[in-house]
Amino acid sequence: MGERQRLDKLLGNSGYGSRKEIRNLIRQRRVTVDGDVISNPGIHVEPGVSKIRIDDIEAVYRKYIYIMMNKPGGVISATYDKRHETIIDLLPDEFRSFDVFPAGRLDIDTEGLVLLTNDGQLAHEILSPRKHIPKTYYVHVNGRVIDKDKEAFAEGIVLDDGYRCLPAELEIIESSEVSEVNLTIYEGKFHQVKRMFESLGKEVVYLKRISMGGLKLDPRLGPGKCREITDKELNALKKNS
Ligand code: URA
Repeated sequence: MGERQRLDKLLGNSGYGSRKEIRNLIRQRRVTVDGDVISNPGIHVEPGVSKIRIDDIEAVYRKYIYIMMNKPGGVISATYDKRHETIIDLLPDEFRSFDVFPAGRLDIDTEGLVLLTNDGQLAHEILSPRKHIPKTYYVHVNGRVIDKDKEAFAEGIVLDDGYRCLPAELEIIESSEVSEVNLTIYEGKFHQVKRMFESLGKEVVYLKRISMGGLKLDPRLGPGKCREITDKELNALKKNS
């Protein structure tokens, strides 16, 4: 079932604690592999084949993890930053031993759906410009958004650098001094949503991603909160990517 891996790494990547915690478990003689008590955290085991037990309970090997987060404003969607809090800083302890990274980034002031995973293949497919995965944003825009804007988005907005965007779908929820809309785009250029509205002479004042492919942000997740996605959600995401 794949390449041999260090025991401490495999247990860490399966969610059994930090490397340090796992080494402690091993030092305390609480871990067995194929019935033998292990004292060396660096021994190599075969994922899914070697029978690993912690306190005599079988350890389940997990390769991938998929977490949806409701990113709050002011937080960077990167794994490390010198100055700002990152989405990794917001992860609860139970997810920390997995080497997750964000599959797609949001601006620091943008809120909403970010998928964190250690599945490079799926992340690649979601991010591939050729796949045109739909992403829907809930947006507050300064000024009235009108039906003519809808047509402009459907035809393809031309950005400040001359790039013509793929057709996008604008749904007007409320048109007023600060309008409320949903916008679905099929690509992910730098600051794309903000720049699309700028091209129409309008300013985005609030931006939140609410879906990506078949995955919808759980409305019960408060800002900064996260949870693993269900198998059903994962299948919906994979179908779209
Ligand atoms: N478009 C933007 O302008 N910003 C984001 O964070 C995402 C899409």
